[in-house]
Amino acid sequence: MKAIQVGLLGIGTVGTGVFNVLKRNQEEIKRRAGRGIEITMVADLDTARAQAVVGGVVKVVNDARAVIANPDIDIVIELIGGYGIAKQLVMEAIDAGKHVVTANKALLAVHGTEIFAAAHRRGVMVAFEAAVAGGIPIIKALREGLTANSIEWIAGIINGTTNFILSEMRDKGLDFAVALKEAQRLGYAEADPTFDIEGIDAAHKATIMSAIAFGIPVQFDKAYVEGITQLGAQDIRYAEQLGYRIKLLGITKRTPKGIELRVHPALVPAKRLIANVEGAMNAVVVQGDAVGTTLYYGKGAGSEPTASAVIADLVDITRLHTADAANRVPHLAFQPDQMSDAPVLPMSEVVTSYYLRLRVADQAGVLAKVTGQLAAAGISIDAMLQRQAQDVGGEGATQTDLIILTHSVREGTMNEVIAQMQQLPTVLAPITRIRKEELA
Ligand code: HSE
Repeated sequence: MKAIQVGLLGIGTVGTGVFNVLKRNQEEIKRRAGRGIEITMVADLDTARAQAVVGGVVKVVNDARAVIANPDIDIVIELIGGYGIAKQLVMEAIDAGKHVVTANKALLAVHGTEIFAAAHRRGVMVAFEAAVAGGIPIIKALREGLTANSIEWIAGIINGTTNFILSEMRDKGLDFAVALKEAQRLGYAEADPTFDIEGIDAAHKATIMSAIAFGIPVQFDKAYVEGITQLGAQDIRYAEQLGYRIKLLGITKRTPKGIELRVHPALVPAKRLIANVEGAMNAVVVQGDAVGTTLYYGKGAGSEPTASAVIADLVDITRLHTADAANRVPHLAFQPDQMSDAPVLPMSEVVTSYYLRLRVADQAGVLAKVTGQLAAAGISIDAMLQRQAQDVGGEGATQTDLIILTHSVREGTMNEVIAQMQQLPTVLAPITRIRKEELA
């Protein structure tokens, strides 16, 4: 049978990996897919570099629309990124009746509803395994492997750059800015690392997982997003002393009131496997009602790990493209007319536990006042740590750090109590609050 013809839009790091892995493993991939899969056309602005990667037999153009217009192309791979031209090209490829494979999490998290609806109408597939956690087949696991389950929650380390930075801060006692420079020197972080360090990249991925897990539309605008730029090295140390590690987690959870969807740093018990995921690696924990806890671990970025996911999508499409569109795996795991309207909860309605660090004056009654305010709000203390007071400025005015771990409470209630505590004259600096996830 004739090989399936693939057109590639953008041949940078991931595109090069796709081309090389497809070529290297072509015989095995063909035995699995039932027919050959060949990249026959590539569009890239740097045609000379593209031609050097793919050699003489592949047609290289600088106009992506020439790929989409080619009637021989069955599948278009979009590896351009961003929401601008990438969105136009994906929509045009769908209109032209092409199946699409994309690694573009930003595009799907923001415009996924429109893109999936267009694909559904046109009867084509949009596959996006590489968009979440790179080489880890988490989309496949959620959409197919766990399809018997009512998913309860997902918590993932889904940004390698920030996990690398946090690992460096913990291992070497580095400040955030120094660890970020190291991440940039090693090529993990982009020159503009905003999407990584501010949690936006992780929120794109969490948004996609949330939609698949709970059958809700992709709603990036409803996600709570907090990055790691404000984390202090001292909080990482205190957390360690209390038996926790700090990780940037993407969390989505089903609750009776709605769906939690949030990205923020969180204390995780050091004994959990996910707390021991170090460096640029990714890991996702999924809790299903039937299967219990499952953990997926691997490389979330890089040329060939991401190519592994892109090619898995090519194989899936090759196997399924002749099937009746109604019998294919739905884009978001649930049939399009069976989506849930469960709301994504505002952060004030999220229930979790907390790490608080208060810089306080070492005076009689300070601890009683602070714990009294927590008690008055019904917030139970799980653990506490107080350092021996230090003389600051050498004039006998001693201060200390008071660390409090709480049990679960509504975030809105916690916010009110933190505001009250901040008013106490003996609380000397802005209170640090980091959420704590037991992941039990
Ligand atoms: N920048 C991402 C990360 C990889 O650091 O994990 C691509 O999503």
